[in-house]
Amino acid sequence: MIEPKLSAVRLLVGCRSRWRAAAVGACLATAPLLAACSKRSVTEPTVASSSQATSRSWMDRSLSPDQRASLLVQSMTQAEKLTLVTGYLGAQTSWNEYQMPEARPQSAGVVQGVARVGFPPQWQSDAGSGVATQGEAPAALERTLLPSGILTASTWNPELAERAGAMIGSEARATGYNVMLAGGVNLLREPTNGRNFEYGGEDPLLAGTMVGALVRGIQSNRIVSTIKHYAFNDQETGRNVVDVKIDEAAARMSDLLAFQLALEQGDPGAVMCSYNRVNGAYACQNPWLLTQVLKGDWGFRGYVMADWGAQQNTVLDANAGLDQETGLRKKGEYQWLDKLAAAIGDGRVPAARLDDMVHRISRTFIAKGAIDDPVQPGKIDLTAHEAVTQADAEEGIVLLKNTQVLPLAPSTKRVAVIGGHADVGVLTGGGSAQVYPPGGNAVRGLGPSHWPGPQVYARSSPLLALRSELPGANISWSDGSDRAAAASAAAAAEVAIVFVTQWTSESLDFPLTLPDDQDKLVDAVARANPRTVVVLETGGPVLLPFVDRVAAVVQAWYPGSRGGPAIARVLSGAVNPSGHLPATFVRSVDQLPRTSIAGEGLPDLQPFAVTYSEGAAVGYRGFAQRGQDPLFPFGHGLSYTSFEQRQLSARLTNGELEVSFGVVNTGKRAGKHVAQVYVAPVAGGWEAPKRLGAFAKVELEPGASAERTVRVDPRLLAMYETARPGWHIAPGKYRVTLATSARDKGQSVVVDLPERQLAAGAGR
Ligand code: BGC
Repeated sequence: MIEPKLSAVRLLVGCRSRWRAAAVGACLATAPLLAACSKRSVTEPTVASSSQATSRSWMDRSLSPDQRASLLVQSMTQAEKLTLVTGYLGAQTSWNEYQMPEARPQSAGVVQGVARVGFPPQWQSDAGSGVATQGEAPAALERTLLPSGILTASTWNPELAERAGAMIGSEARATGYNVMLAGGVNLLREPTNGRNFEYGGEDPLLAGTMVGALVRGIQSNRIVSTIKHYAFNDQETGRNVVDVKIDEAAARMSDLLAFQLALEQGDPGAVMCSYNRVNGAYACQNPWLLTQVLKGDWGFRGYVMADWGAQQNTVLDANAGLDQETGLRKKGEYQWLDKLAAAIGDGRVPAARLDDMVHRISRTFIAKGAIDDPVQPGKIDLTAHEAVTQADAEEGIVLLKNTQVLPLAPSTKRVAVIGGHADVGVLTGGGSAQVYPPGGNAVRGLGPSHWPGPQVYARSSPLLALRSELPGANISWSDGSDRAAAASAAAAAEVAIVFVTQWTSESLDFPLTLPDDQDKLVDAVARANPRTVVVLETGGPVLLPFVDRVAAVVQAWYPGSRGGPAIARVLSGAVNPSGHLPATFVRSVDQLPRTSIAGEGLPDLQPFAVTYSEGAAVGYRGFAQRGQDPLFPFGHGLSYTSFEQRQLSARLTNGELEVSFGVVNTGKRAGKHVAQVYVAPVAGGWEAPKRLGAFAKVELEPGASAERTVRVDPRLLAMYETARPGWHIAPGKYRVTLATSARDKGQSVVVDLPERQLAAGAGR
């Protein structure tokens, strides 16, 4: 049995404890900006003088959320207002010095309510794949686990993501949570980042669309969702001290665009600012990020909460635009409470800023429905939810390579299944996002014994599922710990299926090489049987040195609590794979802009910087710009049928670029196709030779065809300009390419676009 030991994992933790102590003397650099920005962050009261505001007049449902929030603010004392902006850790651990009685068991956080005015506690639960438990059993809640965020992004199907979000949001509501800390949308810049599994890949359009759809689904349950971690929290190594350097235009055209699109599509009630610094200032005390871009340019009307303990400084945080301090666990380490009262008292923070924080929080709860329809713990239909998570998994598993071995022929008699604990379950990602799926952890004792561990396997066996898919076959099992035994099992079979895994987690980064010599296991099996299929369960792209020696590779990511049947049905052909990569697989780390993770090996809390010299050329954009040919490109994904794309045309309709095309299923099976539209100026001049401009997933019976028309967001045709702040489309000829991946040449048409200037917040 392969036992991935912690020693085999490259531990790159930036901080020993999960929630760090406040930084000393942080961010003096931001001070000059504060005066200008703090004024802009204040929401003007809209109705009612204080004499009209009684303790419950804000509950009048005939008023608008803004009117109600204003009445609430006016009816509250300063101490009550401070209550709503102060969040505590929810977990009942020995090191939580607060232990708030209102907290839901083993939850991420709680903000006390104000009973006098009828404002409920804010019960906060992680995260994007379901209702998490902080700390393992016995208190672990068993909840439906969606596949990892990167798998959901691989579906390229926003409707499916929305359904998935609606399901986990309903479990959050029924567990008594009115805030879900979901919506991870950091771009995959560093393939080694231990949290890539939580995010939506490397492209702003795809990530923003998919994560936005998930958030929309969650909030359809009349609860609040975040998007996070704003912004540039692209590595876990030194996450509390790293200073990310990027120029503004590049920032706006990459990671910030992903957030902007997710905001527009999902309308999250809250944005969680991240631990790291951006251009010198901590994200949670960064007036440019919080007040100018988010609340100003993008018109965000919700509230900004700090990542757990990311608050740093009473005055700088408040004046930069932070609205809620979170995750307090240690007395004296907080930044607000009485300290904010003192800062208001002596004029360092305007009183109006506190009113604005409370207005934003309460308005959000009212607008999302969490006040008028309060959450109540209730029953959850875990069986019904299995179908939702399985559908997501089945559509997001990516067939990377297939030389006529898959789907497994129904006549197959002897199959060898090897490794990856496939006899009992599928791997899940670790850290605060950890959901304990029904049945608990199928493999105990792996990974760190304390947070962010342990490694958790969902009790959903691919081996057992494969046996029921192929009832006539003899399917053997080897755990992979003995390479010779695995090879002889493979030699005795018609097909060998090797499961390889890499556990990844919050607070750690990981090498791209599979741990525990699993590459050697694959080699040994492939030598014994050329009809070897590799199934990957990893948090993100990894290196595949064996790729030329195996017949097929299936990327199953972390496939969630019904991952076993989903994988088996893809292998058997009951499901025709239709997942496409949201992130590039490189041939070697030499193809990356940074060949090692910044800050690796530095002492804890020693500040360091990382410069994003690639700018907005993230992922496929960068590989194309540098003339590199990666192993599996962004957008790649095979099917058991074949599709033809045709009749591409492009035009301006009401000033917007519209693209039409047809898709035909030319094969013998029903399937789903992902049509990808890439755009580029013929004359060049962008950060990269092309960008994804639009996409559509089309389901077709054999022989059937369909036409689709998609619109290209004008920001994807523009460069961001800081001199004249906003998006500028240069007049001229643009190539529109219909392709099946970022590498595919596809077919192109050229269209003339007139010059156009859009505001920085265009799109809202
Ligand atoms: C993570 C957040 C999470 C929070 C609460 C932090 O460590 O970065 O993503 O929502 O904890 O658990």
